[in-house]
Amino acid sequence: METLRFLEASRVLELQREFSTPFYVYDEDTLLTRAREVLSFPNPYGLVGRYAMKALPTAEILRIVHGAGLYIDASSGFEAERALRAGIPADKIQITAQELPRNLEALVQQGVWFNACSERQLEHYGELFPGTEVSIRVNPGLGSGHSNRTNVGGPSASFGIWHEQLGEVERTAARHDLTIGRMHTHIGSGSDPDKWVVCAKMSLEIAARLENVHTLSLGGGFKVGRMANEDSADLVAIGQKIVPEIEAFAREHGRELELEVEPGTYVAANCGALVCTITDLVSTRASDGYDFIKIDAGMSEIIRPSMYGGQHPIVVVPADETPRETGDYLVAGHCCESGDVLTPAPGDPEALETRTLTEPRVGDAVVIEGAGAYCAGMAAKNYNAFPECAEVLLRSDGSAQLIRKRQTLDQMLQNEV
Ligand SMILES: Cc1ncc(COP(=O)(O)O)c(C=O)c1O
Repeated sequence: METLRFLEASRVLELQREFSTPFYVYDEDTLLTRAREVLSFPNPYGLVGRYAMKALPTAEILRIVHGAGLYIDASSGFEAERALRAGIPADKIQITAQELPRNLEALVQQGVWFNACSERQLEHYGELFPGTEVSIRVNPGLGSGHSNRTNVGGPSASFGIWHEQLGEVERTAARHDLTIGRMHTHIGSGSDPDKWVVCAKMSLEIAARLENVHTLSLGGGFKVGRMANEDSADLVAIGQKIVPEIEAFAREHGRELELEVEPGTYVAANCGALVCTITDLVSTRASDGYDFIKIDAGMSEIIRPSMYGGQHPIVVVPADETPRETGDYLVAGHCCESGDVLTPAPGDPEALETRTLTEPRVGDAVVIEGAGAYCAGMAAKNYNAFPECAEVLLRSDGSAQLIRKRQTLDQMLQNEV
């Protein structure tokens, strides 16, 4: 059975009473520890650690990780604007976006950095800011993710400039007197650490062909075990494999590359949990079916299980002290959607897999762990008109602070005309 990570059962029940469920709860100490680990990534000539804010973009979270020393990776003009409004200085934000931001000119004028992810984006940037330095995102030809849906490198991915098109890129840059001083690769989320290292080496080979590159960002993608049986990437071990390559690059090309990494999952995944309440129990066991636990949250708060069979620890926290057995259950979300199941088989959202859990009763709390990254920031928001839920931060001093209020129905409807 999975266990609670940073909460204790009594605290869960206390929070359940104080903030009505569902709500996310984040742990400041875990965030700070992860940020420190990212900033200790081995490097021979300097490191910038960015936090990929798409993972969890709430303003207070951005302020905490930035306060710990991380810069910001924004994946749209809107995200960059959101980081600015949270108080992050413009020159600590870099945009790496699939869609060219409509407000790019204004953002760059304020000091935000831009990482061109296609030739068209580079062309556009060159027209706006000729004679400046720019970064390009390259697809190095290899991808790796915990599922095909999180793989963003190789021939089947549309992310970045294909590595065989550097000639065209250099001609575009020359037309606008742009200097390609920074290069970026990011091959997927939950990457295989060995492939991540191979990709780093491939990226160095590409950087060798771009003679003005002084900074190499190797993106994020570090694996994080959410379940007890899943492994997490060892940043020091990974970094140590890359340091000699960067040193060899310096000897061969006379350039001491500054290194960047920009994880989202690594920083946020295990800093958060979703706290819910059991609303119903149903069973189809009489016909070889299952015992289901229904909770007051689902794909409208946490979509990773339905989207790619993502696994999250689930812990039933009894509301009373009566002795309980354990049993095997499926956990169903509150959306009217058969795919809204929190217990799919690993990597297969179509298949179901029961979990051994404490015998549940209506009113018990359920804690879904590993819900810091790609949960509040990436869910089927407002499906079935469920409001965006509240976010609570457990401060290092032990206090619990509301950092985002629950959305109201009026707010959900305010733009309807
Ligand atoms: C450009 C870029 N950088 C960083 C990340 C963060 O990846 P992860 O959360 O796997 O560390 C992503 C995720 O999609 C990304 O697209």
